[in-house]
Amino acid sequence: MNYEFILVDEQAQPHIALIRLNRPKELNALNLQLMLELKSALQSLDQNDAVRCIIITGNEQAFAAGADIKQMESRTPVDLIKIDQFETWDQIRKTSKPVIAAVSGFALGGGCELAMLCDMIVASESAKFGQPEIKIGIMPGAGGTQRLTRAVGKALAMEMVLTGKFISAQEAHAAGLINRVVPDELYLDEAFKLAKEVAAMSPISIRLAKESVLKAFETGLQEGLFFERKNFYLTFTSEDQKEGMKAFIEKRKPDFKGV
Ligand code: CAA
Repeated sequence: MNYEFILVDEQAQPHIALIRLNRPKELNALNLQLMLELKSALQSLDQNDAVRCIIITGNEQAFAAGADIKQMESRTPVDLIKIDQFETWDQIRKTSKPVIAAVSGFALGGGCELAMLCDMIVASESAKFGQPEIKIGIMPGAGGTQRLTRAVGKALAMEMVLTGKFISAQEAHAAGLINRVVPDELYLDEAFKLAKEVAAMSPISIRLAKESVLKAFETGLQEGLFFERKNFYLTFTSEDQKEGMKAFIEKRKPDFKGV
């Protein structure tokens, strides 16, 4: 399928798909169409059994500099309610396969929120994260006050949201927002390395484990533990469970088939 604002390589590496946000002149500002394309691409990759892990990236200058301010500027509250753009974000969050954000340059506003919707974030040394919406008279609307706070804690989240200050990749790493920081030229390779590790596991266990970790952000401990236990039991319905344990006992690498 051809998209206008994203590029999709379904098998960039075996079992790994790559989505590139592709509005370089606008620093990958996330207009409505781009987000709909992203949702559609993720839904299609989620249905593709050959894909086990998905990487979303931008370019060296920008992962994404936020929602498209020029498109939003003249919106009325009624427009916003009718368009309900964040419904698209909710759908993106529902991707069942692991999604890794490979971030270089700016990840701001909606760009930072999109990275936080992903399951893991790999960044280049020059990446910058921020929620600068306050500087343009609004506030984060796609999870910035919630996911950022859960990831980095109240003190830093409050400062970022109330002053719009950017943090470096190193600061983001120290605060627990991102998984890895690597030299600029290596961030995409590093994302592929991580994706390869994930893609080597049982896709069924990966799906259930991802669901369970996300549950920790959305529910209390007892309910989360109960959910985890059910998903743990469910992993035993798969042939991959037999293969994984057999391979361990036979001292060989497992060959997971996703069944
Ligand atoms: N929306 C629309 N266009 C944007 C954009 C955005 N979020 N960010 C950058 N652009 C455009 C600029 O308008 C400019 O276009 P022109 O060449 O046509 O003027 C082009 O991209 C390059 O940008 P700059 O010239 O500004 O580049 P810079 O290197 O001087 O600055 C920057 C880079 C600091 C990222 C600056 O562009 C900036 O502050 N961008 C806006 C960041 C922001 O406020 N993001 C939050 C948006 S609101 C939001 O995301 C709401 C939400 O929660 C979903």
